[in-house]
Amino acid sequence: MRLIIKKKSHLSESQVTPESVYRQRRQIVQGLGLGLGAAALSGPASASFLDSLLGSKEPENKAQGAKEAVARTEPLTFSQPKAYQLQVPSTAERVATSYNNFYEFGADKSDPVRYAQQFNTKPWTITISGEVDKPQTIDVWAWLEKQQLEERIYRHRCVEAWSMVIPWLGVPLASIIKAASPNSKAKYVAFETLYDPKQMRGQASRFVGGGIEYPYVEGLRLDEAMHPLALLAVGMYGKTLPPQNGAPVRLVLPWKYGFKGIKSIVRIHLTDKQPPTTWNKLAAQEYGFYANVNPKVDHPRWSQATERVIAEGGLFGSERQPTLMFNGYEDEVASLYQGMDLRKFY
Ligand code: MTE
Repeated sequence: MRLIIKKKSHLSESQVTPESVYRQRRQIVQGLGLGLGAAALSGPASASFLDSLLGSKEPENKAQGAKEAVARTEPLTFSQPKAYQLQVPSTAERVATSYNNFYEFGADKSDPVRYAQQFNTKPWTITISGEVDKPQTIDVWAWLEKQQLEERIYRHRCVEAWSMVIPWLGVPLASIIKAASPNSKAKYVAFETLYDPKQMRGQASRFVGGGIEYPYVEGLRLDEAMHPLALLAVGMYGKTLPPQNGAPVRLVLPWKYGFKGIKSIVRIHLTDKQPPTTWNKLAAQEYGFYANVNPKVDHPRWSQATERVIAEGGLFGSERQPTLMFNGYEDEVASLYQGMDLRKFY
């Protein structure tokens, strides 16, 4: 779907997208009461898609606000376990903190850094509820002082077929779940982002927020959530998370597409049923519950076989490389999905 549209006046959406897909997209557009000029609709990739039709703003990627964002972060102390280092260079901090998806602040890649700088993350609590013996509400900043943070350099693959390499700081997601003592009915874990339209312009306007029904929600099977690679991240590049990257706490699941990495979490709820997830609710045939990185299962509108490694200059300053099964974490996670048809459970 990474289409370079040379003469956009010659191409209609129906010419660059399979008919069934553009018809379904139009239904979503109409359902939202928006015209085709709307910049973000049926998926993490839709903004870029429509941008490319309308004249993309992405490649500019000027990183306005990136300096302020970094200024708002605080240094953290952490260890660097060997198991989580990578032999490839990390993405430049400036790039990873200015080319973002955080629809609560707008659907363009440059919106989060521009519009999230006043986002207030102090105080911040996370409530852990549902099928647990010890439900609790955590004061995040007090909790953070007691944590032994690890740096984990992970590959980050967006469903839109671009990638980065990011040095995250955090704790295993399992540690916070274990502390709440899941009971025998707990089979899934649901996550929720803050809902605060006064602070998040995308929540105040359906148009700005890409047509998403907020709060943003995500979910995992309990065994996925307990996997050692699943990280509750509180920082990156040696410091606390900047607002546009999901301050103060977000998920990082390196074997899954980036949209599973829910930002600015306020609630973790254990349940016996598979929870709804934001992009799946918006376009189920495009974004599955599992969303495991898989080069053999294409998105209905583009190939997932390769990815653009985002560098300075955004999408168009990037090289293409093959996408790896489970984003390169196959040895660690394949057993979670043994016997499952990965085309069906995409
Ligand atoms: N979490 C919330 N609450 N809102 C979002 O729009 N976007 C997701 C994910 N988490 C998103 C979110 C998507 S599509 C991706 S690719 C990653 O965040 C991007 O993370 P990054 O901006 O740190 O690269």
